[in-house]
Amino acid sequence: MKKKALLILSGCLLMFSASCYYDELVAEELPDIPDGEEISFAQDIEPLFSQDGKDCTRCHDGSTDPDLRIGRAYNALVPDYVVAGDAAASEFFQKLPGRGHPFDVGFALSAQEIALIGAWIDRGAENN
Ligand code: HEC
Repeated sequence: MKKKALLILSGCLLMFSASCYYDELVAEELPDIPDGEEISFAQDIEPLFSQDGKDCTRCHDGSTDPDLRIGRAYNALVPDYVVAGDAAASEFFQKLPGRGHPFDVGFALSAQEIALIGAWIDRGAENN
């Protein structure tokens, strides 16, 4: 009986440490965006939503929230999906394809693109 409990306990410990390791890996995958690198919503962020082969606006075209079309995306995102200054608390950042989109859309944003969106939000999510 004791042996069984020990086995279960060590199994749980193993699973727990494996999940920590996984979290770390995911966090490490996002590259740092240097403080000096300017991020413009219009030039750097909004175009990410209508890239060839990775087109969010195929679905997020006004029929599915948030509306990610050029000229509409900012008002659709802030403040409903984005907490200015806090990417971790922003639903948008958590649900990007490549992170936690409600379902697989057949493509993902790259780690660099996700990091850029995160940095834009953390720096105040300005409409610049
Ligand atoms: C194939 C269609 C499709 C594509 C492509 C797509 N989405 Fe979505 N997305 C949806 C649908 C449908 C929902 C709503 C799912 C639901 O309500 O459960 C959704 C939900 C979301 C949500 C969460 C919204 C909420 O209210 O919870 C975010 C954020 C999002 N999408 C961002 C994106 C971004 C960014 C891209 C492109 C990089 C993208 N999506 C590409 C169809 C798509």
